[in-house]
This record gives sequence, structure tokens and C-alpha cells, in this order.
Amino acid sequence: MTAGWFITFEGGEGSGKSTQAKRLADRLTAAGHAVTVTREPGGSPFAERLRAIILDPNLEKHSPLAEALLFASARADHLEQVIRPALAAGHVVICDRFSDSTRVYQGYAGRVEPRLLEALELIIVQHTKPDLTIVVDIPAEIGLARAALRLNPSPAAQAPSEKIPKQPRGLLADRFESRGLDFHKKLREGFLEIARLEPQRCVVVDGQSSPDDVARNVFAAVESRLFTEAR
Ligand code: TYD
Repeated sequence: MTAGWFITFEGGEGSGKSTQAKRLADRLTAAGHAVTVTREPGGSPFAERLRAIILDPNLEKHSPLAEALLFASARADHLEQVIRPALAAGHVVICDRFSDSTRVYQGYAGRVEPRLLEALELIIVQHTKPDLTIVVDIPAEIGLARAALRLNPSPAAQAPSEKIPKQPRGLLADRFESRGLDFHKKLREGFLEIARLEPQRCVVVDGQSSPDDVARNVFAAVESRLFTEAR
């Protein structure tokens, strides 16, 4: 039993979830909540080191299982160093991607046996399951176009919402962004399937709405799913 609330954001590339995670954090902070915003892969010093390896576009060929174990290792450290202590201190922890990304990228759309990933998730996540998962849903074509714009911005073509800097990036897409359209369609299907199977935990919001509307829908989900619940 944790004292805080654990909220995760999930979705495909270019869904706008990182921007929405930050907007939710700002709103909750302004309302007086103690908030920890974090991300995966990464979130702790050790896990950020692993992130740099995992997302390196020049990484040598390696097995899908080896890669899944790197994500698992990063998550184990992130949970231990950051997420669990913050929850124990009563924080709202907002995490940009978490174990559903592994289920979908490595399992559903990837090449690792889903039952193996389930077992790893049980071992690593244990009782620290998200209280709420927001799936920001967007058609793969649109998400990929947005992600391409982020990598190669032409200021005149940018919508205001796209101008929010995400994080410093190189000129190359990371290894997952550079996969084809079919892979990204599969990702979308996978996230929607998880949301369908776990309606208590997951809320799907339409990522094609304006950023303000998405933020309103996210906040409505947080209010109705979490803050009305007695603990
Ligand atoms: P990031 O730049 O954070 O992408 P995004 O803006 O889409 O969140 O890179 C994270 C990449 O790692 C992203 O392509 C999804 C992938 N990923 C996995 O494949 N498995 C995982 O368990 C996690 C957390 C991320």
C-alpha cells in the first residue's frame, strides 16, 4: 500500500504524452500537491545511463530479450531509487512511459514472448502498479509525422503545441522511432488492447484534440478516477 498516487502516460510516438505529463504536473503542483515527474527508460542516474545505450541509433545488433532485460534493469533501479520513495513520501508520481510500453514495444509489436515479459513485470514492478494510466491515442501516421517534425523542425510549419521543446535530441530518430508504419500501427493496437482489458486502471484520451482539450480530458480522468477515491 502506497501513500501517494502513481500515474503513468502511455502512447505511441508523437502522441503528445510528454507535454501532457508536464501539464498535469504543473496543474497538480499549482493545486498544492507534491509532484514527482519522471520518465522511462531512465528516471534515475543509473537508468539514464542505460537509456543512452538502449536508444543509441548506432547500437550493435543484439537480441530482443537482451534489450527487454535492459529495460527491466532500468525500471528496477528507477522504482527503487525514485518512484517508491516518492510514493512513500505521499507524492503524486507522474511517469512518462512505464511497463505498458514494454508490454507493447517488446511484446505485442516486438519479438519477446509476452509471458516472459509478464513474469518480469511481476518480479520488478511488484505492488507498485500504476493507479491510473492515461493512454494518449493517436493514429500512427499522425504520430510519426509529428515525431518527424520534432526531429527536423521547420518553424513555419509548426503548430504552437509542437513548439514546446521536449528534450535535446540529435538529428537521428532513436531506434524505435525509426521503425516502419506497420510497427507503429501495432503499437497503437497494443495500447488500446491493454486499455480495453484493464478499464479500471486505464483511460484513453484522444491525442488529436487540441492540447488544451487533451489536458482537460486528462485532468477530468485524474479527478474522477483518483481524487474522489478515499484511501
Ligand atoms: P523517448 O524519446 O522517451 O520517446 P517517446 O517520446 O516516444 O516517449 O524514447 C523512448 C523509446 O523507448 C520509445 O520509442 C519507446 C521505447 N520504449 C520501449 O520500447 N520499451 C519500454 O519499456 C519503454 C519504457 C520505452
